[in-house]
Amino acid sequence: MQDFGDSLVCLRSPDELYAWRDTNPFELGLVPTMGYLHQGHLSLVKRSCDENAQTIVSIFVNPTQFDMEEDLEVYPRDEERDIAALTKLGVDAVYIPTIESMYPSNFDTFVQVESLTERLEGDSRPGHFRGVATVVTKLLSAMHPGRVYFGKKDAQQLRVIQRLVEDLNISSKIIPCETVRESDGLALSSRNVYLSATERRIAPVLYKSLLKAQDSFSKGERSADRLRSIVREVLDKESLFQVDYVSLADETTLVEVKGILKKHSLLMVAVQLGDVRLLDNVELVL
Ligand code: PAJ
Repeated sequence: MQDFGDSLVCLRSPDELYAWRDTNPFELGLVPTMGYLHQGHLSLVKRSCDENAQTIVSIFVNPTQFDMEEDLEVYPRDEERDIAALTKLGVDAVYIPTIESMYPSNFDTFVQVESLTERLEGDSRPGHFRGVATVVTKLLSAMHPGRVYFGKKDAQQLRVIQRLVEDLNISSKIIPCETVRESDGLALSSRNVYLSATERRIAPVLYKSLLKAQDSFSKGERSADRLRSIVREVLDKESLFQVDYVSLADETTLVEVKGILKKHSLLMVAVQLGDVRLLDNVELVL
């Protein structure tokens, strides 16, 4: 167990975590991350610090949620900078377990959320949500946090986790947090560092396409097909975007809306821009 002064404790294995939890039986807020923290992550951390007696942030680049194409090795990392940012915010503990301590050689249990993970990100990244669901279940069962903070930016991930805690009777409360954006609208993401200058200039068009559809919706457009095509028309003008999906789905089940919008829905997009996969979404509230 390392102590970084200003009382930030760094825990490197489940055993160190259990020992810390035993001596800190407080109401705990958890922010699960894969590190390389930006203001989006830190907004979740600030909220947890405001709402809980103690806050723990996990930093773990989880190998089981990476598929072949997305190389685990090249995922950006900067532990020193992350620890400095968390110390400044007054976080109580950071959990940075080794891969071996999370997945020892005899590890043999996975958590699978079924229908919610079949489409969208699940379709493009087979096995991804099985890895996310497994690691989040491990974190929740090791820590028993009262509240756990997730970004709305990863809309499908948020629904998968909400389903998981309900189905497995996990008592932690899931707190959805707003997406933090650059001033030009691009949602903050650890992967944005891989955009070239040209790609970075184009990237905000993703959010602009969603805003255009949201604007039509607020003026009364209720045809799901029409709203999806508004997004597509904007994206198709940028030849560098390879559109993976434009989805307009029920906000809880993520089942695609057919015909006329009658309920709170989510408009989600995923594109490939160079080597980077970009995701974004807006809510259409009825
Ligand atoms: P990571 O991509 O590091 O994201 C950690 C959390 O930060 C997620 O809940 C994500 O939705 C949130 N987040 C990312 N960008 C954000 C932004 N611009 N505004 C607000 N919140 C944002 O998501 C993961 O890690 C992993 O899959 C994890 C849940 C940790 C499991 O390994």
